[in-house]
Amino acid sequence: MDTQNKKVVFSGVQPTGKITLGNYLGAIKNWAPLQDEYNCLYCVVDLHSITVQQVPAELRKNTMDLVALYIACGVDPNKSILFIQSHVPEHAELAWTLDTISYIGELNRMTQFKEKSRKHADNLNMGLMNYPVLMASDILLYQTDLVPVGKDQVQHLELARDLAERFNNRYSPTFVVPEGLVYKSGSSIKSLQDPTAKMSKSDPNENAIITLFDTPDEIRRKFKRAVTDSETCVRFDADAKPAISNLLTIYSLTSGESIADAEKRFEGVGYGVFKEAVADAVIAVIEPIQQEQKRLVADKAYLESVLKQGAESAERIARKTLSKVYRKIGFIPKF
Ligand code: AMP
Ligand code: TRP
Repeated sequence: MDTQNKKVVFSGVQPTGKITLGNYLGAIKNWAPLQDEYNCLYCVVDLHSITVQQVPAELRKNTMDLVALYIACGVDPNKSILFIQSHVPEHAELAWTLDTISYIGELNRMTQFKEKSRKHADNLNMGLMNYPVLMASDILLYQTDLVPVGKDQVQHLELARDLAERFNNRYSPTFVVPEGLVYKSGSSIKSLQDPTAKMSKSDPNENAIITLFDTPDEIRRKFKRAVTDSETCVRFDADAKPAISNLLTIYSLTSGESIADAEKRFEGVGYGVFKEAVADAVIAVIEPIQQEQKRLVADKAYLESVLKQGAESAERIARKTLSKVYRKIGFIPKF
């Protein structure tokens, strides 16, 4: 990684369930193009994933699947630092430190926490509430300037900024205060069954989500069943026509055609034909990624070497920040 005067980018996805088209269009797709201009770190955030109970064997598989998927989506280990969060213990260490300057009130207000507490009422653990503090640690450890995420993460990013400023004010300038990089379109892809809800990995209704592991047939079937509206006009209007607007966004982001051009292309065409075109555009993007992902996941030795190097490079930076933090707090350095 060329460290000279380039800004730092950090992002991550949890290795839970199947990665959705929302994760791809809202986050991962935007990562590769940043690699030349910035020093990028892309992390598989396994520590985050255990706030919801995981099956160990599945977590192991999902983690390696996601590492391979990052690379298949264009993350180049020679340009970026690609690593697994639990390989760098500084994340958990800084999280503890930041916990002590986070207020219960502000964590209690987080939208994702409120949603997850409702969904996991039987497992309302401290990790769910601490989740955004751990995310702040991920970001602040690397003196990150920019964080490319979907819209749902903006509130967490605000907390990371607040914590950075709070620490800097209490001690002295220590952390870079990060900015979000939220792309206008794609930052919130909606469920195919309920266009007012985001497309979410944890949605129990399989027809609501497209995953990066779906077969072409499954993708066609899911788009065919996607809800629409009672009009028959393919027109973008997020308020009046949320379902069609979501499909138009997906079409535009996967085909590369602008929404306006797409509206013209599908003028006078029924929803059935339009949905087929959306499915084709999505398949054309996903199929080559799937093939590359499969090839990579079979090459264990390669993935392990990437992860070994990634963890070493990440830890070097993380250790430096954490030492600075500990020194400022008044902890005595190891003799
Ligand atoms: P998660 O699934 O919570 O691990 O999210 C990983 C990344 O994908 C984050 O940057 C999210 O903002 C993004 N993301 C998740 N769901 C969507 C969605 N429906 N639309 C756009 N971005 C999303
Ligand atoms: N919380 C993010 C999500 O659910 C994942 C995440 C964890 C993350 N740490 C991060 C994203 C740091 C960006 C930067 O989507």
